[in-house]
Amino acid sequence: MVASIINGTEIAAQVKAEVAQGVAEVKQRHGVTPGLAVVLVGDDPASAVYVASKQKAASEAGMHAEDHKLATATPMEAMEALLKRLNADANVHGILIQLPLPKHLNEHAVMERISPDKDVDGLHPVNMGLLLAGRPRFVPATPAGIQQLLLRTGHSPEGKHVVVCGRSDIVGKPVAALLMHKAPGANATVTVCHTGTRDLPSLTRQADILIAAMGRAGSIKADMVKDGVVVIDVGTNRFEDASKKSGYRLVGDVDYEVVSKRAAAITPVPGGVGPMTIAMLLANTLKAAMLRVQHEKS
Ligand SMILES: NC(=O)c1ccc[n+]([C@@H]2O[C@H](COP(=O)([O-])OP(=O)(O)OC[C@H]3O[C@@H](n4cnc5c(N)ncnc54)[C@H](OP(=O)(O)O)[C@@H]3O)[C@@H](O)[C@H]2O)c1
Repeated sequence: MVASIINGTEIAAQVKAEVAQGVAEVKQRHGVTPGLAVVLVGDDPASAVYVASKQKAASEAGMHAEDHKLATATPMEAMEALLKRLNADANVHGILIQLPLPKHLNEHAVMERISPDKDVDGLHPVNMGLLLAGRPRFVPATPAGIQQLLLRTGHSPEGKHVVVCGRSDIVGKPVAALLMHKAPGANATVTVCHTGTRDLPSLTRQADILIAAMGRAGSIKADMVKDGVVVIDVGTNRFEDASKKSGYRLVGDVDYEVVSKRAAAITPVPGGVGPMTIAMLLANTLKAAMLRVQHEKS
């Protein structure tokens, strides 16, 4: 069997076009331009690249996009002051803090300073709670993107056994919560694995849909999947590579070469989950602007 490739770049372009259409409608009907503020603390080059691509995508969708670059040594008080200002700014509907933050800034404490109504990353405890309760408002972008990749390629998770490798707050836990909802486009039986899991291969081999989000390059091997599995590879592991313009290459958590020979469908790395993350961030920002319009009308 040769797997069909789940093309995240193409699907993300569709989602971005839909968002741009929605942005144009909100502008025309309500005179509101959805706005995204991205906050970057420190000078990590990879984070700077991610922030620039989020800014560019927001501008291309017709949004107001602004960035706030802060020095690595920025104290919590200055972070709080900035977030207070952005929470009160009517031109900003979504706030995104680029992670990871420098060690002296507690990520949980920072996230909790964002208004839950502007938390387009879906990491505020209120939004995580709503997701777990089955009433999602802002679903974290990567899990939301994974669900769209499955649905838009005809691989609905309904009734399937989804095995998630990884239990982080930004991928593993929210994607498990999202796909187990009693709702159309979800309704899966979900197993979550982690480093405490005994005999990982015996569980991954049961997966109809396997989501690998471990941050361990190539760790899902051919003998860990069953024939016909649908594989979503979230892993983005960087390796230096002088032959690449960027100086590095990205490798997924799945051994693509061998697993793609057994799978029915698989996401490549790069070009799979990654582009969807930005597209769903834009979708969340549009949603935040629409919720504000509705709230102000009611
Ligand atoms: N494409 C995108 O847009 C995107 C977005 C987010 C993340 N990512 C990538 O996705 C990967 C995961 O990110 P993350 O933030 O979720 O990572 P993370 O916070 O490091 O979490 C990794 C998870 O995988 C589990 N794990 C690690 N090794 C394992 C093993 N050998 N067997 C079973 N479970 C194992 C860990 O278990 P414990 O909990 O027991 O430690 C943990 O729950 C990374 O490569 C990251 O760069 C990509």
